[in-house]
Amino acid sequence: MNFKKNILCIGAGYVGGPTMAVIAYKCPQFRVTIADINPARIAEWNSDELPLYEPGLDEIIRATRGKNLFFTTDIQRGIRDNDIIFVSVNTPTKMFGAGAGMAADLQYWEKTARQILQYSESSKIVIEKSTLPVKTAQAMENILRNAHSFTFEVLSNPEFLAEGTAIKDMENPDRILIGSRETASGLKAREELVEIYANWIPREKIITSNIWSSELSKIVSNAFLAQRISSINAISALCEKTDADIIEVARAVGMDSRIGGKYLNSSVGFGGSCFKKDILNLVYLCRHYGLKEVADYWEGVVKINQYQQERFTLNMLTAMFNTLADKKICLFGVSFKANTSDTRESPAIFIAKKLLEEKAEIIITDPQALRNARADLAGMEGRVSFIDDPYKAAAGCHAIAVMTEWDLYRDLDYQKIYDTMIKPASLFDGRNIIDHRRCHNIGFNVYPIGKPALTHF
Ligand code: NAD
Ligand code: UGA
Repeated sequence: MNFKKNILCIGAGYVGGPTMAVIAYKCPQFRVTIADINPARIAEWNSDELPLYEPGLDEIIRATRGKNLFFTTDIQRGIRDNDIIFVSVNTPTKMFGAGAGMAADLQYWEKTARQILQYSESSKIVIEKSTLPVKTAQAMENILRNAHSFTFEVLSNPEFLAEGTAIKDMENPDRILIGSRETASGLKAREELVEIYANWIPREKIITSNIWSSELSKIVSNAFLAQRISSINAISALCEKTDADIIEVARAVGMDSRIGGKYLNSSVGFGGSCFKKDILNLVYLCRHYGLKEVADYWEGVVKINQYQQERFTLNMLTAMFNTLADKKICLFGVSFKANTSDTRESPAIFIAKKLLEEKAEIIITDPQALRNARADLAGMEGRVSFIDDPYKAAAGCHAIAVMTEWDLYRDLDYQKIYDTMIKPASLFDGRNIIDHRRCHNIGFNVYPIGKPALTHF
């Protein structure tokens, strides 16, 4: 079959996989190839057991794979045969040298740029989909400028999907952002990308900007979202001191239409691979440009998040008579949020490690994320176990701590669970999703976030 466009995505991760699958699904006239250096990951994408859990993804992959969606490790051929290349490789926090613990580690990004230069045999549009520090496109252009007989146009098209709703977010996004150079060739490339998205997204939702605004907007969006969570979590600490209720406060505040009610769920802290890394990157950039006060302001968002996770662990220790040694604690959920198997930067992993330091025994249950959690906690076997069934996981424990807001944990039979636990049985709700009053009546000592504890002491 002759396809209208041939599109390549380099990087078959949480972003590359779902975003490109949706493009292939919505645009059967395009041939979409996703390439990755990790052969195990590509083998999983080509199997019935996809490398990540994302609602709706299986169906879309089944409808497109082998028809107009292909997964490969042959990056050289992918680059040669495609004229539109999305780059969606990882950009984690740099852990060495200058900027360690703050700056973005751009080594995967730069290697990709060099691969594109090395294997290209014609002009191409190269699209930054990874989240990158502002001005990265300039570095990309400087590498690609070394081609002799053809040209590259670099665009920025950051991804705003959230895990757990990735397919919905791609099918019906709030906006698509495309940044380009404002030259004739830049504007032409920009229009070509607009045309791809316009196959299913209304034009008024596709916004364009200069390339630096586009790069910066992505990091700022994440910083604003995380800032709201840290704001409400900071107030949750005050609620616990004053008998105010964080859910009532969030409702009252959020009903002001100027503030809005989203992202005001107080929690054990935000996780995920991006919020922390992107804010730290923003902090680093601000320091680099001499904007100390701005950097300190944003760093506060990360510090409060750390504080919230430490506070939660300390509350557990205090509530359980200041010793956790040899106590069995069951964690309900280990993914960083519901509806994903991703455990990157999950508060549950941080808290599990803290509880292990206190010599507790940990039992982890989760409907999708146990495989990743096993890898995260490798070497700690003996003190940590993994059990699919939440009833079996909680049996014989001194406490349950709800880490992830999976719907499943709202509707369990807590009387049945209580009956199998060691007394006094404690329930720490790090997501405020359980019926606290009911569980207290059953006999639990209940410790929500940002609300008075309900105890029998
Ligand atoms: P990921 O780690 O899941 O996937 C990245 C993939 O790139 C890996 O499979 C890796 O093997 C591959 N890769 C690295 N170097 C390569 C190379 N030279 N050639 C081919 N493949 C290579 O990461 P992710 O979560 O998909 O994130 C990717 C980017 O998207 C990051 O910049 C992230 O900040 C951004 N982002 C992520 C999300 C999210 O929800 N995870 C949302 C929006 C934006
Ligand atoms: C986030 C953004 O929402 C996406 O727009 C962005 O594309 C993505 O980061 C990225 O760049 O990686 P994601 O991390 O997948 O998406 O998930 P969110 O739903 O934003 O949740 C992040 C964390 O905040 C989770 O741990 C979640 O439980 C927590 N959270 C969220 C709260 O504690 N309270 C809330 O009210 C909302």
